[in-house]
Amino acid sequence: MISWVSLLATADHLLPSSHPIWVSTASGSYPIWTGYHLLAEKSFLQPYLAGKQVFILSHPEIAAHYLSCLKQTCLAAGAEQIDELLIPSGDAHKVLSSVEQIWTAMLSRHHYRDTTIIALGGGMIGDLAGFAAACYMRGVAFIQYPTTLLAQIDAAVGGKTAINYPHGKNMIGAFHHPRLIISDLATLNTLPKREFIAGIAELIKYGVALDSDFFDWIKSHIDDILCFKPEAISFAVRKACQLKAEIISLDEKDQGPRVVLNFGHTVAHALEALLDYSALLHGEAVAIGMVVALHLSFLRGSIDKSMLDDIVNLLNSLKLPTKLPSTITTVEILTKIKHDKKHFRNQLRWVLLDTIGKASICEEITDQQITQALLMCGAKP
Ligand SMILES: NC(=O)c1ccc[n+]([C@@H]2O[C@H](COP(=O)([O-])OP(=O)(O)OC[C@H]3O[C@@H](n4cnc5c(N)ncnc54)[C@H](O)[C@@H]3O)[C@@H](O)[C@H]2O)c1
Repeated sequence: MISWVSLLATADHLLPSSHPIWVSTASGSYPIWTGYHLLAEKSFLQPYLAGKQVFILSHPEIAAHYLSCLKQTCLAAGAEQIDELLIPSGDAHKVLSSVEQIWTAMLSRHHYRDTTIIALGGGMIGDLAGFAAACYMRGVAFIQYPTTLLAQIDAAVGGKTAINYPHGKNMIGAFHHPRLIISDLATLNTLPKREFIAGIAELIKYGVALDSDFFDWIKSHIDDILCFKPEAISFAVRKACQLKAEIISLDEKDQGPRVVLNFGHTVAHALEALLDYSALLHGEAVAIGMVVALHLSFLRGSIDKSMLDDIVNLLNSLKLPTKLPSTITTVEILTKIKHDKKHFRNQLRWVLLDTIGKASICEEITDQQITQALLMCGAKP
């Protein structure tokens, strides 16, 4: 029996991949470095930090493992001033008051326009740090050190930054790309198992919505991923980043093809907000949201039952939730969905499946169809 804690394998897998993945957009290009023990590698940071101020944002439980190493690396890379702020974990803290706390701390420690904010954590701290950086003194540089699977494959990549607002999730934000992303895959060793599995839901999203070969690969390598086999983790993270980078290079600001990356997110965001960002992890909400989108695709005749079952079975095998909480009514979800950002010309844009590996945008979905799909997924009438 292989233990959950990492299988540290041959030296090859511990080295950083020699080629980064590049995200290229009209606003500029930046590299994503992936590999093991990159937190201690100063060469990535030197071009960005020499002689500069640095402000690191993290959570206490992540800082306990990795903050001192990152600070040493920043110093070795030539940073002249390093300050830090630890924010409590959880999406309930991805709010304006946390951003104000960041700005106040940076101003009181005299950070100027050439400072660099570093996000050390998952998607929550990345979104918060990115938004704080987008507005501080009209925009300062930031660097992502994602420490969750979900952030390494998705949240850190692509420049979407945001905070939650009483009206809904990620309602206030900005597009602000990081200068670089450094994914130290060894940090996944301390990630709670539930968080890791929630990240796999977003991995499955890439296969389902964009690449059927990748979906098949995930299915056949799921045990290797769960056992933390470095080859499998490295391949999965790099493949997902490549897929996302390709889409972003076509559509930086979510006006066209990038929208398909929101597969499952319409219902996911509604659920997270309805449950006060506490009962479900983001990836778990995405798993349920994908199942609702699959049922809608099935009801519209674009996929058959065997395709739907194939995907739901994979999610079930990971014990990811695939049913809506029975306490939430269809009307509550429909009402919340009406506030979704993904409206275009006053119509909500759904991302539905044509087949495994191909999702597309649909605007003409009726409330009756949505209600039927929600009921099929266990919502309260
Ligand atoms: N900007 C985007 O494009 C984008 C995309 C997807 C999701 N998101 C956002 O990302 C957030 C979810 O991110 P997440 O799933 O990474 O969760 P998270 O950032 O909330 O982190 C999950 C938990 O794991 C802990 N943790 C993180 N890394 C750890 C490590 N290596 N060791 C031990 N503990 C660790 C954190 O302290 C936290 O308690 C949501 O706010 C979501 O909206 C953003």
